[in-house]
Amino acid sequence: MTGKDIIEKYIKFFEGKGHKRITNSPLVPIDDPTTLFTSSGMQPLIPYLLGEVHPAGKRLVNVQNSFRAVDIDEVGDNRHTTFFRMLGNWSLGDYFKKEEIPWLWEFLTEELKIPSERLYITIFEGTEGVEKDNESFEIWSKIVPKERIFWAGVDKNWWSRSGVPANMPVGEIGGPDTEVYYEFDNPHFKGCKGKDPVTCECGKFLEIANSVFIQYQKTEDVFKELPQKNVDFGGGLERLLAAVEDKSDIFKTSLFEPIIKAIERESGKQYKGNENSMRIVADHLRAAVYLIDGKVVPSNKERGYILRRLIRRALDNLGHAHSASSGQADVENIISAIVAECAKTDKSLSQNFEEIKNVILQEQENYKNVINVAEKIIGGADDNGTKQISADEAFKMYSTHGLSPTQIKSLGYIFDEQKFAGLMEEHSKKSKTASSGMFKGGLADHSELTIKGHTATHLLHQALRDVFGNELHQTGSNITSERVRFDFNLDRMLTIDELKRVQDIVNDKILENLPISFEMLPLQKAKEIGAIGLFDDKYEGEVKVYFIGGGSTGSPRPYSAEFCGGPHVDFTGKLNSFTIIKQENLGKGQKRIYAKVT
Ligand code: SER
Repeated sequence: MTGKDIIEKYIKFFEGKGHKRITNSPLVPIDDPTTLFTSSGMQPLIPYLLGEVHPAGKRLVNVQNSFRAVDIDEVGDNRHTTFFRMLGNWSLGDYFKKEEIPWLWEFLTEELKIPSERLYITIFEGTEGVEKDNESFEIWSKIVPKERIFWAGVDKNWWSRSGVPANMPVGEIGGPDTEVYYEFDNPHFKGCKGKDPVTCECGKFLEIANSVFIQYQKTEDVFKELPQKNVDFGGGLERLLAAVEDKSDIFKTSLFEPIIKAIERESGKQYKGNENSMRIVADHLRAAVYLIDGKVVPSNKERGYILRRLIRRALDNLGHAHSASSGQADVENIISAIVAECAKTDKSLSQNFEEIKNVILQEQENYKNVINVAEKIIGGADDNGTKQISADEAFKMYSTHGLSPTQIKSLGYIFDEQKFAGLMEEHSKKSKTASSGMFKGGLADHSELTIKGHTATHLLHQALRDVFGNELHQTGSNITSERVRFDFNLDRMLTIDELKRVQDIVNDKILENLPISFEMLPLQKAKEIGAIGLFDDKYEGEVKVYFIGGGSTGSPRPYSAEFCGGPHVDFTGKLNSFTIIKQENLGKGQKRIYAKVT
């Protein structure tokens, strides 16, 4: 049974139980400013878990490509990946535990034919304000011998996007879950003291399925019950396949085997003895392939930075970061192996192969240049192959040139690591403050001036398109109460006259005092009316579109229609004036405008 077979069986099984298949949402979310990547199948469904009516009904099923940057440092063991495919089924206030649990069991044991005696169950033991899940226990104990059922607390059997209840922001939804573990017959890996699925940490017990009962929403001090009780099931394809094939190392399953073989061939090393680094190469390059397919490009910020980190870490582990042109062909062959395997379920990967390959090879070049520059700054190693440098110098290599502490050390540099860690912490505090804006749709805060600035970017975006045509689109923005910063694609600088024309258009729209409103629209409709946004054809959900002066009926004709999370002022006349302060050339066909809004 291949990974593809599991997907097909799963979809068919749940379609047979009245579920409607929904498409895989883009890995880079299109209308959720709160997160960088789609990290679970439930993420695009949040409005519907909260009670909005889903056009496809109350029972949904899909396979969602997911990426979890938080797991990047876990990769290297037998079971963690950053990118994975999650099988998901949902009940939006329809069926609940007594249907979900037996169906899941039937799927695992009868469709996938996983031996039932290998399966263990964990159930939520309760916490302040949320009861012990006795109902799940009753249901499971009719299916599975009680000695294979275990209770666990919030750190294991509670699920929300932000983790345990204490970390959930107000408004976040979540609930208790029940999980299924597969037991491999090999002994516990070194150092593991736990002997059951709750206490074992070595991967001998592998979590393969998670049914979350999303029924709570966090308020200021307690949880409130949602108007409907939902089921949110998630099972990672890579892990389900490991159970089906009884491979205690997911990188030895048929999904990863051809990729690991390519890495062995190109690196000239054996997997045995190099498991940790080869797993990192396989996972990170596979994730990079999917992110580039989702139009992410390496950069020093946000999504681009994560992609850069994945590629560079993969190259380090391949030992090819410094090699000359011969290294390129090696990486290319690994990318080909990844695409050949993954395109069996994601066809766009083979269509975009050239682009994917070029982005990775270009980043390899950039990385080599960075290392050369860093070496020039600090000088090469001493005769014994090492060189003492200050923590500040090491930190400069990290912050300016993107070299991780491990990379700096593997260049032969020695430095005060404790002091370096202190500098890192300071730096991370600063960047957390700076990036907190992205959780609010590019806004640094929700002050009146910042909200005005947000509306001004929509006007500026449309005004630029009025002057330069619809090929022009936004590539970034950052808004504070001091100024608006707006990036877009244009192959030349604007002339003084053009800058003035754009500024005048925005000020005219302010004077017209146009109303601003939003509508939730199906993607197809949003496209038909010409709303601006980064749309993915495969997306079938609804998008939030903000209109300036009009709405989706086209009468009166809106001046601007743009997909966006908000917030905005209600009339353009709330803005007093818009003044362009300067423009900058960002390179790679991108320009930046700074403007002041009052
Ligand atoms: N949301 C849960 C998870 O990600 C189940 O889908 O595991």
